[in-house]
Amino acid sequence: MTTRIIGTGSALPEEVITNDDMAKIVDTSDEWISSRTGIRQRKLVGRDENVVTLGTEAARKALEDSGTAPEEIDLVLTATSSSEVYFPNVACQIQGNLHLTNAVAMDVSAACSGFLFVLHIAHAYIQSGVYRKILLVGAETLSRLIDWEDRTTCVLFGDGAGACVVEAQETGIIDAVLHSDGGMGHVLTGSAAALVTPKSEALAAHPLHMDGQAVFKFAVKKVPECIQELLERNQVEADDVKWYLLHQANKRIIQSVAKRMHQPEEKFPVNLEYYGNTSAASIPILLDEMYHSGQIKRGDRCILSGFGAGLTWGAALLDW
Ligand code: COA
Repeated sequence: MTTRIIGTGSALPEEVITNDDMAKIVDTSDEWISSRTGIRQRKLVGRDENVVTLGTEAARKALEDSGTAPEEIDLVLTATSSSEVYFPNVACQIQGNLHLTNAVAMDVSAACSGFLFVLHIAHAYIQSGVYRKILLVGAETLSRLIDWEDRTTCVLFGDGAGACVVEAQETGIIDAVLHSDGGMGHVLTGSAAALVTPKSEALAAHPLHMDGQAVFKFAVKKVPECIQELLERNQVEADDVKWYLLHQANKRIIQSVAKRMHQPEEKFPVNLEYYGNTSAASIPILLDEMYHSGQIKRGDRCILSGFGAGLTWGAALLDW
């Protein structure tokens, strides 16, 4: 038995902040942001929205899409690094909202790699026979964590949530790999103290801090390496993978990975121009869009790969 994604959903806030809007907040321009990152706009949560409201909406859609009744879910895993409350955890709140009465619920913190981490954990549970149907949610509101006076980071991120229902089936995940390097943790850090403080005070609370060039170098080296590791140990050629679905942080990172893999950019779909970097939500949002637009089809061989703070990174090889 392996793990198959049987339904997807996503939820994005209404409010759109374009690059021109960002230029009214910090000293930047549409030209700088779009040429360095590919990002043209991002969506930000309003006062009454948070990781739980977004995550619940995405999860509800994934349940409907997969035809799963609430009581069928055995486990809820939420990947998030931007909840404004420590407990109850986000997964328990989503469980309560959706009446997933038979589920165990827990959060996983692995920043932008979070979706790959929850997918890997779900796969291990399914392979071991402990659980059969699992709800995976990536939900983030990094707009509440960033320093809105730091132009080097605030232009990069957006809010959103994506979800998948996975179940034990004959086909699906072929193999998956995760890595962590705590020794490099200092290049990308975020403080929870900033989440609930007003913008002015949040600056003193040491919010998100990033060495952008170090993160860029890490991503363009480690992502191709771990994809290659996965392909080699499963004797799959890079050419035989139809889609490379990468964490949507920066278009230049994605283009660089495509080049290093000697693969055409068309195999690396991008939607970050609309949402910015939505951290753990970016891969499930992309999956939802690709699946429901008919681009990704049953049987398509895919690589998913995420990378982010920790440092953490990973990849999964699967037949959709
Ligand atoms: N608008 C205008 N100018 C900006 C700017 C902004 N938003 N942010 C930085 N700059 C300026 C810098 O101050 C610097 O000016 P200087 O040369 O006068 O000192 C100049 O642009 C170049 O800065 P630099 O940091 O060298 O730019 P870069 O080419 O490395 O691009 C990133 C910066 C952040 C876009 C890039 O490093 C990156 O994408 N890194 C990966 C980040 C990421 O994806 N993180 C999440 C991972 S999950």
